[in-house]
Amino acid sequence: MTASYSPGIPPTAVVIDHDTDPVQSDTPAADPLALAAAWLPGPGEDRMLMTVSTVGLDGLPDARTTMLSDYDGERFFFHTDANSRKVAELAASPGVALTILWPGVTRQLIVQGTARRSPRTESDAAYRHRSPYLQQLAWQNTAEFAQRPLAERRARWRNFLSAHGGAEQPVFTPPEEWVGFAVTPHRLVFWVSNPDAASRRIAYTREEAGWARTTLPG
Ligand SMILES: Cc1cc2nc3c(=O)[nH]c(=O)nc-3n(C[C@H](O)[C@H](O)[C@H](O)COP(=O)(O)O)c2cc1C
Repeated sequence: MTASYSPGIPPTAVVIDHDTDPVQSDTPAADPLALAAAWLPGPGEDRMLMTVSTVGLDGLPDARTTMLSDYDGERFFFHTDANSRKVAELAASPGVALTILWPGVTRQLIVQGTARRSPRTESDAAYRHRSPYLQQLAWQNTAEFAQRPLAERRARWRNFLSAHGGAEQPVFTPPEEWVGFAVTPHRLVFWVSNPDAASRRIAYTREEAGWARTTLPG
C-alpha cells in the first residue's frame, strides 16, 4: 500500500482572495492576534501543519512538523509525546518559532514565542478531537514499537484496532505520555503571496504599550 500522507491529516488546498485578504490591505489590522484568527481554520475545520523550531540541547536549531492543534485567539497549541526530543529541548529552553505554510503557498505565518506545558484537562480535550488514526498513533508510536520488524508492527497495529472496536472507533483516553504546549507569541510575521504584485509581509512585535507593526518586502 502507498499513501501520500498520514490518515487523519487531510491535504487541504487553500485559495485566498487577494482583493480582500487582510494582509494585502492598505490599512493592516492593529491586532495580530485577531488577524491570525481571521487566517487560521475555525473549530471543526481541518487543522494546519507547522514546523516547530526549537533550540537543541547542543545549542543548534532543531525542527520538525506537527499539527497546529488549536489557536485560542492568544496562544498556539501543539501536542506531542512527553518522551520526545522536542519536550526535552523545551524544558531546557522554552523559546520556539512556528512556521505555518498554507497549502497552495498563498500564505505563511511565523510565530516566535514561549512554549508552556498546557494543563491535562486541555490536552485530554485536544486528544478527543484527533481522528481515530491519530489517537492510535499516540498510543503506539513509541521508541520500542519503532524498533520492531514491519510484520510485527502491522500485527500489533491490527491487534490494537481489534481490541478497541476497529479503525473508526475513537480511543477516548490518551496515553500518559500525551502532552500539550501552548505558545504565547512575542512576534508574528504574516506573509502573503500576490500573483499581481510582489509578496508582502507584516511583522508585529509585542511591546509594553501594545503591538508595533512593520511592513516588509516578501
Ligand atoms: C505531517 C506530519 C504531522 C505530524 N504531526 C505531529 C504532531 O502533531 N505531534 C507530534 O508530536 N509529532 C508529529 N509529527 C511527527 C514529528 O514531525 C516528529 O517526527 C516527532 O514529533 C518527533 O520529533 P522530535 O524528535 O523532534 O521531538 C508529524 C509529522 C508529520 C510529517
